[in-house]
Amino acid sequence: MERTLILVKVDGVQRRLVGEILGRFEAKGLKLVGLKFRQFPREVIEEHYGEHRDKPFFPDVVGFMTSGPVCALALEGPEAISVCRKLIGQTQSREADPGTIRGDLGISRQFNLVHGSDSADSAERELALWFSDEELVDYSLCDEVWLGD
Ligand code: TYD
Ligand code: MG
Repeated sequence: MERTLILVKVDGVQRRLVGEILGRFEAKGLKLVGLKFRQFPREVIEEHYGEHRDKPFFPDVVGFMTSGPVCALALEGPEAISVCRKLIGQTQSREADPGTIRGDLGISRQFNLVHGSDSADSAERELALWFSDEELVDYSLCDEVWLGD
């Protein structure tokens, strides 16, 4: 089992797509283990995108992601990290495959609706940044037997 950090970005919230996006992960079989919704401080967003600190798009991404509320999700499932990245699609929404969240719902690179951790290391780092241990919920779902290997 893996856990991964998903963000419905400011554009996803503004476009009223939180339910649609969360619904895609739920329908796939991922389990919601953490959820929060608010406008987050610049320090959290800068830390989250720390690997991109020296890139030219960094100030724009931080400005965009601090401009309004964001919905943070912690999701659990078998190979959750790569499964979620597949559901999300390519960074440039115009090139993302139909069937993916970005491919179906977006047409922008910067405003690409959703973030997903890209590796086990990133997931660990990002989950610790966005959620405390107590905010991640351990519980069973009655259909879990049908969602294993
Ligand atoms: P990145 O981690 O490369 O993409 P992904 O979200 O698919 O893991 O980049 C982080 C975010 O930065 C990306 O979702 C959108 C934004 N971004 C730009 O605005 N311009 C760019 O050229 C790139 C590469 C990313
Ligand atoms: Mg990334």
